[in-house]
Amino acid sequence: MLNKGIQRTRNYAGLGYNSRPFCVAIEPMPATARAQPNIALIKYWGKRDSHRNLPAVGSISITLADLFTTMRVEFDDSLRDDLLIVNGRANEEMLPRIRRCLDRVAGAHRHPARIDSASNFPIAAGLASSASAFAALVVAADAAAGQKHDTAHLARLAGSASGSAARSLYGGYAELENSGDDIAVRCLRSAADWPLRVVVAITALGPKPVGSTAAMEISRKTSPFYSRWVEQQPLDLAEAGNAIAERDFAKLAAIAEHNCLKMHSVMWGSRPPMIYWNSVTLACMQAVRELQSQGVAVFFTIDAGPQVKAICESADESRVRDAFAATSGVKDVLASGLGDGAALIAND
Ligand code: PMV
Repeated sequence: MLNKGIQRTRNYAGLGYNSRPFCVAIEPMPATARAQPNIALIKYWGKRDSHRNLPAVGSISITLADLFTTMRVEFDDSLRDDLLIVNGRANEEMLPRIRRCLDRVAGAHRHPARIDSASNFPIAAGLASSASAFAALVVAADAAAGQKHDTAHLARLAGSASGSAARSLYGGYAELENSGDDIAVRCLRSAADWPLRVVVAITALGPKPVGSTAAMEISRKTSPFYSRWVEQQPLDLAEAGNAIAERDFAKLAAIAEHNCLKMHSVMWGSRPPMIYWNSVTLACMQAVRELQSQGVAVFFTIDAGPQVKAICESADESRVRDAFAATSGVKDVLASGLGDGAALIAND
């Protein structure tokens, strides 16, 4: 028998208290959630338990406001199999990971699901699209299954699919911890508390050459810098945590750039080496250095992709945008404030 927890009873009779017994019908309840990507300032790179997807290091991120993924999930026993539509097109490639995540949320005996995903920014290009996708997926699937799990539980489910997705359940400044026996995230500061801006230079489009799960394993097994990276991370986390508590931009800038370059050094030192940058990535880093030398409070960070994210205060945003737009080879410039965690936006 299939799990009927994915269906919900609804009162159609409209009868009030003390009237005849309610006339009820069972119907599936599609649900839609929205989640924003997050950008790590102190990076997650490496797993201590790849089976359970537990990180080898803690990480700190900021959740964006203006880039987002909207995910609609509907369990439907008339479907023969799960169906994933990404930005209007059937997608087979992502389906196995999505399916495993749905099984964890709604149970392996759930009905097949139709999943519609749409993002307003390039996916699989180092802009944390899997973080927003899995964060939105767990929130939508939980509601579509008629459940009401709390954020900590949903973060564990999202994090078991994509480590960084756990952080997108939370808004503002979030820390994915590397302690205990499960995935745990805590909010360090709200977005409104310290409303920094993020300007993204798109330097290339198209999927990354090596996915982060495989790349992390290559780093762990082959990079001579990996063990030092893991060893030093608590110091970087503490320094960034203090900078965020004190809203000390210069301190946060210094530790975030250091941590980003250290993560890429681990990748560069791996065999085979993993170099996600291109010449435009370097030109954008140079543009940030140039702004810094002119006294602009800005710093860069780069993930497993060629895009450069510059973090600044709102007063400096237009200078940063202009500098990226003027950098030869930049394909597009996006900007966002900091926002809230994943949220359910419809459930009927
Ligand atoms: O969550 P994953 O498996 O996509 O890995 C994320 C890795 C980085 O984006 C490079 C760093 C991070 O902390 O987000």
